[in-house]
Amino acid sequence: MADNNIVWHETTIKKEERQERNGHKSAILWFTGLSGAGKSTLANALEQQLFKQGKNSYVLDGDNVRHGLNKGLGFSDEDRKENIRRIGEVAKLFVDAGTIVCTAFISPFKEDRDRVRELVEDGEFIEVYVRCSLEACEERDPKGLYKKARAGEIPEFTGISSPYEEPGAPEIIVDSDKQTVEESVNAIINYLQVKNIL
Ligand code: PPS
Repeated sequence: MADNNIVWHETTIKKEERQERNGHKSAILWFTGLSGAGKSTLANALEQQLFKQGKNSYVLDGDNVRHGLNKGLGFSDEDRKENIRRIGEVAKLFVDAGTIVCTAFISPFKEDRDRVRELVEDGEFIEVYVRCSLEACEERDPKGLYKKARAGEIPEFTGISSPYEEPGAPEIIVDSDKQTVEESVNAIINYLQVKNIL
């Protein structure tokens, strides 16, 4: 397909060959949820287990990615959409590279998450809804952001002055205000085993 003189070039080594050598399939574990719900904590705890088991994995985290690749993007609906679009494309590259990529972004809009789902093959996008009440997130307030948002110091703060659309049919739901990190990680690993990804 040619577009503006840019032509797609097939790579010599295929995703399937990389997966075969790694001994597992690749996938996107897309953690979504409110700020403070525990997305990064869970993504990192899961990756620790995968790493220990010798699997190829990587964590893409909202705060970190916004320091580099997505530096300059803010929190308007439009910027969040572009944030997720770029992360989706990066996550797709990780899948192509044979990696299990764990992404931890609020990703508040269903349409944007669904667009990422469509970028990869069936079964490769695993939406993990890190469910936690706004009250519990606000109580935790690990970065003091809810306090600032309530004081009007952060405009368009998710859950306070900007919406969060809950996933309709996520592959996995983790209730982070009821389950321990270990229980949640075990449930996710179990899912990956049942689906023959691991
Ligand atoms: S999004 O909505 O997916 O584009 O957001 P994300 O890239 O995951 O970035 C969320 C982190 O940015 C901090 N932060 C805010 N979050 C929500 N709303 C506003 N206005 C905001 N401003 C800064 C906050 O630390 C989020 O991190 P987490 O880990 O989710 O708490």
